[in-house]
Amino acid sequence: MTIKTFIFLLATIAISACMQAEQQQAQTAVAAEWSADDERALGLLKSNCTSCHHPNRETVMAPSLHAIRLQYLDAYKSEGEFVNRLVGFVKNPSKDLSMMPGAIDKYGAMPRQALPDADLQAIASFMFRHDPLSIR
Ligand code: HEC
Repeated sequence: MTIKTFIFLLATIAISACMQAEQQQAQTAVAAEWSADDERALGLLKSNCTSCHHPNRETVMAPSLHAIRLQYLDAYKSEGEFVNRLVGFVKNPSKDLSMMPGAIDKYGAMPRQALPDADLQAIASFMFRHDPLSIR
């Protein structure tokens, strides 16, 4: 084996070791972001909201979850406020509490959703942290 080949081999081994380490880091990051709470919240969202709200496109029934999220994020930067406002609306849908007044005119009022507060909070917190575009 010439010196050149030897150096080439060393470099290849070093690079692939680096790439593996990076990949592992990326995997850990994804795992840490997606918790059991998120899984539960996604289940709640799917069984209670997606019949009317498609994750990423508006339907004849209602605006998309993606559009709702952007509208609320634009107005409320902290998770606490985002969650409070969204839960407040869902418990008592009204034009006064609406962040999307045009939506009521277009689709009609949203029927009140009778879910336990904890479940609504879990859904709202999930919507703060995850773009529904990614759930499909
Ligand atoms: C029966 C259909 C229906 C279901 C089920 C439903 N929604 Fe809605 N939702 C609507 C309609 C229609 C609108 C648009 C009218 C409006 O904004 O009041 C709306 C609007 C919204 C808005 C925007 C409010 C605003 O600021 O104007 C939020 C937030 C929302 N829904 C959250 C939810 C969540 C969370 C769930 C599940 C717990 C849910 N919705 C279930 C029909 C529904």
